[in-house]
Amino acid sequence: MAIIEVTGVSKTYHDQSSGRAVRTLDNVSISAPENDFLILLGPSGCGKSTLLNIIAGLTSFDDDGGRVLVQGKPVTGPNPKLMAYMFQDPVLYPWRTVLKNVEFGLEAQGISKDERRERALKYLRLVGLEEFAHAYPRQLSGGMAQRVAICRSLALETDIVLMDEPFAALDEQSRILIGDELVSIWRQVRRTIVFVTHSLTEAVYLGQRIALFSARPGRIKLEIANPLPRPRSIGTAEFNQMVDTLWTQLKAESLASIKREPAEQEKILLPKE
Ligand SMILES: Nc1ncnc2c1ncn2[C@@H]1O[C@H](COP(=O)(O)OP(=O)(O)O)[C@@H](O)[C@H]1O
Ligand SMILES: [Mg+2]
Repeated sequence: MAIIEVTGVSKTYHDQSSGRAVRTLDNVSISAPENDFLILLGPSGCGKSTLLNIIAGLTSFDDDGGRVLVQGKPVTGPNPKLMAYMFQDPVLYPWRTVLKNVEFGLEAQGISKDERRERALKYLRLVGLEEFAHAYPRQLSGGMAQRVAICRSLALETDIVLMDEPFAALDEQSRILIGDELVSIWRQVRRTIVFVTHSLTEAVYLGQRIALFSARPGRIKLEIANPLPRPRSIGTAEFNQMVDTLWTQLKAESLASIKREPAEQEKILLPKE
């Protein structure tokens, strides 16, 4: 059974100052089976974050028949017990130790002190940061801080983890290493991960399934399974073939999004009803 089911969802933002409406998502349908590692891939501005926010219950969508079901129930608002959300620039609290940062969300869930500690240490161990448990964020490299942020979202042990370009601020090498760690944790603890990226390599390296967006207004243009065995290697013939297939499609969409002249952009603005 699909744990996440998005059917016919559209999103129109209303710009208060100009009184115009901008259609950002157009009739998007996508579903994720349990334990999926689903990648949402697409050019900048196509509505990836908007869709993730809609799934998270943080953003509303147009009232035109679309629906979003999570575990079979309509999403009516944020549900932190069910879904953890990792943003692009995860912020660690500078005055809390690494351990206390990972424990943070668990405190809010009312989990006992001993269990909090045990769980936080379990995830820090999985990413090799156990010995930094009592360090402060300023003592960490960017990659280490990112790993702590991953621990913080996974330690919540929600069935679903939503990640919005979580490694975008890292260099290529760190991204690959941290991606490896994320996949390794995912294989051990089994969660449903929905991971937004604009990087083809990241999509093919990490994803079980990849949904490719069109340029704005975003639609799902292509949805493919990624059969490459794990652990994966970047640059093998099969890997490159998959990247090529996606690039052929993504290129057209990226061109559409960067070539769109301001005058032309007006056309996709709809008058406010
Ligand atoms: N709160 C908002 N109000 C108005 N427009 C928005 C808002 N959030 C996003 N948009 C517009 O919706 C489009 C898609 O944004 P977003 O979902 O952030 O795309 P992506 O994550 O794929 O880069 C963009 O053109 C953006 O300007
Ligand atoms: Mg985004």
